[in-house]
Amino acid sequence: MKTILNITAFCALACFVQAQEVTRAAAQLESKSGSQVAGLVAFMKVGDEVQVMGAIQHLTPGKHGFHIHDKGDCSAPDAASAGAHFNPTQQHHGGPMTAERHAGDLGNIEADASGNAQVNWKGKLSLSGKDSIIGKSVVVHEKEDDLKTDPSGNSGARVACGVINAAPFAAPAAMPTVAPSATPTAH
Ligand code: CU
Ligand code: ZN
Repeated sequence: MKTILNITAFCALACFVQAQEVTRAAAQLESKSGSQVAGLVAFMKVGDEVQVMGAIQHLTPGKHGFHIHDKGDCSAPDAASAGAHFNPTQQHHGGPMTAERHAGDLGNIEADASGNAQVNWKGKLSLSGKDSIIGKSVVVHEKEDDLKTDPSGNSGARVACGVINAAPFAAPAAMPTVAPSATPTAH
Protein backbone atom coordinates (compact mmCIF):
# COMPACT_ATOMS: atom_id res chain seq x y z
CA MET A 1 0.00 0.00 0.00
CA LYS A 2 2.84 2.36 0.93
CA THR A 3 4.50 1.65 -2.41
CA ILE A 4 1.34 2.51 -4.31
CA LEU A 5 1.06 5.78 -2.41
CA ASN A 6 4.69 6.57 -3.17
CA ILE A 7 4.18 5.89 -6.86
CA THR A 8 1.07 8.05 -6.86
CA ALA A 9 2.96 10.88 -5.16
CA PHE A 10 5.84 10.55 -7.64
CA CYS A 11 3.50 10.56 -10.59
CA ALA A 12 1.65 13.61 -9.34
CA LEU A 13 4.95 15.47 -9.16
CA ALA A 14 6.30 14.18 -12.48
CA CYS A 15 3.06 14.89 -14.28
CA PHE A 16 3.04 18.41 -12.88
CA VAL A 17 6.60 19.05 -14.08
CA GLN A 18 5.80 17.64 -17.52
CA ALA A 19 2.67 19.71 -17.82
CA GLN A 20 4.55 22.93 -17.10
CA GLU A 21 4.59 24.93 -20.26
CA VAL A 22 7.80 26.33 -21.65
CA THR A 23 7.48 30.11 -21.57
CA ARG A 24 11.07 31.19 -22.05
CA ALA A 25 13.94 30.12 -24.24
CA ALA A 26 17.29 31.44 -25.39
CA ALA A 27 19.93 30.97 -28.08
CA GLN A 28 23.58 31.86 -27.59
CA LEU A 29 24.98 32.73 -31.01
CA GLU A 30 28.39 31.53 -32.11
CA SER A 31 30.49 32.92 -34.94
CA LYS A 32 30.30 31.12 -38.29
CA SER A 33 31.78 31.40 -41.79
CA GLY A 34 34.91 33.10 -40.45
CA SER A 35 33.01 35.97 -38.79
CA GLN A 36 33.39 37.36 -35.27
CA VAL A 37 29.63 37.74 -34.83
CA ALA A 38 28.31 36.90 -31.36
CA GLY A 39 25.16 37.56 -29.41
CA LEU A 40 22.26 36.34 -27.40
CA VAL A 41 18.62 35.98 -28.42
CA ALA A 42 15.83 35.42 -25.89
CA PHE A 43 12.27 34.23 -26.46
CA MET A 44 9.35 34.86 -24.16
CA LYS A 45 5.78 33.67 -24.51
CA VAL A 46 3.31 36.57 -24.49
CA GLY A 47 -0.27 35.37 -24.88
CA ASP A 48 -0.40 33.33 -28.11
CA GLU A 49 2.68 35.06 -29.50
CA VAL A 50 6.37 35.07 -28.72
CA GLN A 51 8.46 38.14 -28.01
CA VAL A 52 11.97 37.83 -29.46
CA MET A 53 14.68 40.07 -28.01
CA GLY A 54 18.36 40.06 -28.58
CA ALA A 55 21.65 41.85 -28.87
CA ILE A 56 24.15 40.91 -31.56
CA GLN A 57 27.67 42.25 -31.96
CA HIS A 58 30.52 42.44 -34.49
CA LEU A 59 28.32 42.61 -37.56
CA THR A 60 29.10 44.65 -40.64
CA PRO A 61 26.97 47.83 -40.54
CA GLY A 62 23.60 47.49 -42.29
CA LYS A 63 20.90 44.87 -42.62
CA HIS A 64 21.31 41.14 -42.06
CA GLY A 65 18.84 38.33 -42.62
CA PHE A 66 17.62 36.89 -39.33
CA HIS A 67 15.79 33.57 -39.27
CA ILE A 68 14.84 30.52 -37.29
CA HIS A 69 16.23 27.48 -39.06
CA ASP A 70 14.85 23.98 -38.99
CA LYS A 71 17.66 22.04 -37.30
CA GLY A 72 19.20 22.72 -33.92
CA ASP A 73 22.67 21.91 -35.19
CA CYS A 74 25.24 24.69 -35.51
CA SER A 75 28.22 22.33 -35.72
CA ALA A 76 29.26 23.05 -39.33
CA PRO A 77 31.78 25.90 -39.82
CA ASP A 78 29.33 27.53 -42.26
CA ALA A 79 26.24 26.55 -40.20
CA ALA A 80 24.88 24.56 -43.14
CA SER A 81 24.00 21.95 -40.49
CA ALA A 82 21.17 24.22 -39.30
CA GLY A 83 19.22 23.25 -42.42
CA ALA A 84 16.59 25.33 -44.18
CA HIS A 85 14.24 27.90 -42.70
CA PHE A 86 11.79 26.62 -40.09
CA ASN A 87 8.72 26.05 -42.26
CA PRO A 88 6.05 23.88 -40.60
CA THR A 89 3.31 25.27 -42.87
CA GLN A 90 5.14 24.47 -46.16
CA GLN A 91 5.11 27.98 -47.58
CA HIS A 92 7.51 30.04 -49.66
CA HIS A 93 10.08 32.43 -48.25
CA GLY A 94 8.86 35.88 -47.25
CA GLY A 95 9.25 38.51 -44.58
CA PRO A 96 7.80 38.91 -41.10
CA MET A 97 4.75 40.77 -42.47
CA THR A 98 4.12 38.97 -45.77
CA ALA A 99 1.13 36.68 -46.27
CA GLU A 100 3.32 33.90 -47.67
CA ARG A 101 6.24 33.20 -45.35
CA HIS A 102 8.18 30.57 -43.47
CA ALA A 103 7.33 30.65 -39.77
CA GLY A 104 11.06 31.27 -39.21
CA ASP A 105 11.19 34.35 -41.46
CA LEU A 106 11.89 37.12 -38.99
CA GLY A 107 13.20 39.53 -41.64
CA ASN A 108 16.30 41.60 -41.00
CA ILE A 109 18.19 43.04 -38.12
CA GLU A 110 20.13 46.27 -38.69
CA ALA A 111 23.60 46.82 -37.31
CA ASP A 112 24.77 50.33 -36.50
CA ALA A 113 28.17 51.77 -37.49
CA SER A 114 29.74 49.88 -34.56
CA GLY A 115 28.29 46.58 -35.73
CA ASN A 116 25.71 46.24 -32.95
CA ALA A 117 22.15 45.18 -33.68
CA GLN A 118 19.10 44.83 -31.47
CA VAL A 119 16.35 42.30 -32.02
CA ASN A 120 12.85 43.26 -30.97
CA TRP A 121 10.11 41.31 -32.71
CA LYS A 122 6.85 39.79 -31.59
CA GLY A 123 4.75 37.41 -33.60
CA LYS A 124 3.33 33.96 -34.22
CA LEU A 125 5.72 31.39 -32.82
CA SER A 126 5.38 28.57 -30.29
CA LEU A 127 7.60 27.40 -27.47
CA SER A 128 5.61 24.18 -27.05
CA GLY A 129 3.52 21.78 -29.08
CA LYS A 130 4.16 20.38 -32.53
CA ASP A 131 5.38 23.64 -34.05
CA SER A 132 7.67 24.47 -31.16
CA ILE A 133 10.90 26.32 -31.96
CA ILE A 134 12.69 24.67 -29.03
CA GLY A 135 15.54 22.64 -30.51
CA LYS A 136 15.61 24.71 -33.71
CA SER A 137 18.24 27.38 -34.33
CA VAL A 138 18.70 31.10 -34.87
CA VAL A 139 20.84 32.11 -37.86
CA VAL A 140 22.18 35.55 -38.76
CA HIS A 141 23.24 36.14 -42.36
CA GLU A 142 25.97 38.08 -44.09
CA LYS A 143 23.58 40.09 -46.27
CA GLU A 144 20.14 41.66 -46.27
CA ASP A 145 17.14 39.37 -46.70
CA ASP A 146 15.09 40.63 -49.68
CA LEU A 147 11.98 39.11 -48.01
CA LYS A 148 10.87 37.34 -51.18
CA THR A 149 13.45 35.13 -52.90
CA ASP A 150 13.23 31.42 -52.15
CA PRO A 151 14.64 29.74 -50.21
CA SER A 152 16.38 32.30 -48.00
CA GLY A 153 15.95 35.82 -49.39
CA ASN A 154 19.39 35.93 -51.04
CA SER A 155 20.90 36.68 -47.67
CA GLY A 156 24.24 35.00 -48.29
CA ALA A 157 26.50 33.21 -45.84
CA ARG A 158 25.50 32.26 -42.31
CA VAL A 159 27.65 34.40 -40.00
CA ALA A 160 26.22 33.28 -36.65
CA CYS A 161 24.19 30.36 -35.35
CA GLY A 162 22.73 29.34 -32.01
CA VAL A 163 20.51 26.49 -30.86
CA ILE A 164 17.26 27.51 -29.15
CA ASN A 165 17.09 25.95 -25.68
CA ALA A 166 14.21 26.12 -23.24
CA ALA A 167 15.06 28.23 -20.21
CA PRO A 168 14.85 25.77 -17.28
CA PHE A 169 12.97 28.04 -14.90
CA ALA A 170 10.53 30.87 -15.34
CA ALA A 171 12.25 32.87 -12.60
CA PRO A 172 13.62 36.22 -13.82
CA ALA A 173 17.11 35.16 -12.73
CA ALA A 174 17.10 32.47 -15.44
CA MET A 175 16.48 35.04 -18.18
CA PRO A 176 19.64 35.93 -20.04
CA THR A 177 20.57 39.58 -20.20
CA VAL A 178 19.86 40.83 -23.69
CA ALA A 179 20.94 44.42 -23.16
CA PRO A 180 23.94 45.42 -25.30
CA SER A 181 27.25 45.57 -23.51
CA ALA A 182 27.84 48.91 -21.88
CA THR A 183 29.56 51.45 -24.04
CA PRO A 184 32.82 52.63 -22.51
CA THR A 185 32.60 56.09 -21.03
CA ALA A 186 34.58 58.65 -22.98
CA HIS A 187 37.17 60.58 -20.99
CU1 CU B 1 18.64 32.06 -42.38
ZN1 ZN C 1 12.41 31.84 -45.24
